[in-house]
Amino acid sequence: MHIDRLFVRNFRNYEQGDWHLSPGINIFYGENAQGKTNLLEAVYYCGVGHSHRTSQEEDLIRWGENQLAAAVQFTRQGLQHTLQLKRERQPRKKEIKLDRQVIRAKEQLGEMPVVLFSPEDLQLIKGEPALRRRFLDLEIAQSNRRYYQDLVRYQRIVLQRNKLLKAIREGLAHKNELEAWDQPFSDSAANLMVEREKAVAHFSALANEVHQLIAGGRESLQVAYQVAGEGQAPSGGTKSDWQAWYERLLQNTRTSDIARGSTSLGPHRDDLLFLLKEGPFKAFASQGQQRTAVLSLKIAEVTFVQQAVGFYPILLLDDVMSELDQKRREQLLAFISGKIQTFITGTECSMLHPDSMAACFMVKNGALGDGGSGSN
Ligand SMILES: Nc1ncnc2c1ncn2[C@@H]1O[C@H](COP(=O)(O)OP(=O)(O)O)[C@@H](O)[C@H]1O
Ligand SMILES: [Mg+2]
Repeated sequence: MHIDRLFVRNFRNYEQGDWHLSPGINIFYGENAQGKTNLLEAVYYCGVGHSHRTSQEEDLIRWGENQLAAAVQFTRQGLQHTLQLKRERQPRKKEIKLDRQVIRAKEQLGEMPVVLFSPEDLQLIKGEPALRRRFLDLEIAQSNRRYYQDLVRYQRIVLQRNKLLKAIREGLAHKNELEAWDQPFSDSAANLMVEREKAVAHFSALANEVHQLIAGGRESLQVAYQVAGEGQAPSGGTKSDWQAWYERLLQNTRTSDIARGSTSLGPHRDDLLFLLKEGPFKAFASQGQQRTAVLSLKIAEVTFVQQAVGFYPILLLDDVMSELDQKRREQLLAFISGKIQTFITGTECSMLHPDSMAACFMVKNGALGDGGSGSN
């Protein structure tokens, strides 16, 4: 799969742009704060429907403007498609079109899968569990629409249940009203768990395979799913095993959940563990080992999506080339080469090996100049 054309209007610092892209490697280079990451963000936005940098979609609208547009024309398994997004500030409105037909937000994800790798991904190992959950959720959701719908449903249930918990705490509602939420909670949580377990088992094997190659066969990398809560979770279990587990969990935590006014356990509290050899990574690995591991995870993510949907996602590399040493850079390029459309940002066009064919675009103040295509 590759994007043939990217179009933006009033997107971040771009007034308007319409660019033809290379199906291989595209490099956006230039000085700081010129709009390089904004371009990757536009591609990510077309693929995922939101930004990787802000939860406020209005932030993407060019300052002083009321409406943004971002669109891609892409080729997937030999067929050309278009995705067009518009977002209006006032009145707040969003429109998504696939092949010129209006679609709903939940139908967008997976049409054009993307994988982003940026320096912030180092936080995947050291940072908050929420980052790892988001990583896992997006990885699965881009190749499994059912999962995304279950996730949205689950998140809505947690929100509603939390509202009710607070109301009960304040004496505005009765405990028994929780019954109405506990069953749907357990049902959607169980759906998520079955898919997450399946995905993690597959993903762990992929990550380990990649890591053996990259780290030279000396190190093993395992990914494990950590269920929040006390007691023996029904790992490897069926949907009804998980349902029963969550029903019990909700019973056991009911009093404390009311006191805290939120749902303390469930898939929204779980975590992923990255294990290097025997020990957990966070504590033992050096900076260099962590970088290598994140690279392995990202390559594994690309492969995961490819195996699930039958084609490679688009890869966005934001400022990571300069973070990787020569050897890791070459390993990454060898993986990409000839099969994955990739967008790379950096300070110069010549950051890649001279043999790697790439289209170079100079980015300056919200505009793209042609930095000369072909070999860089
Ligand atoms: N909504 C917006 N409207 C106009 N300009 C914006 C908006 N959001 C960010 N910018 C500008 O975009 C630039 C940063 O772009 P970015 O792509 O992050 O730079 P870089 O080239 O360093 O990756 C800054 O100059 C910032 O002021
Ligand atoms: Mg940037």
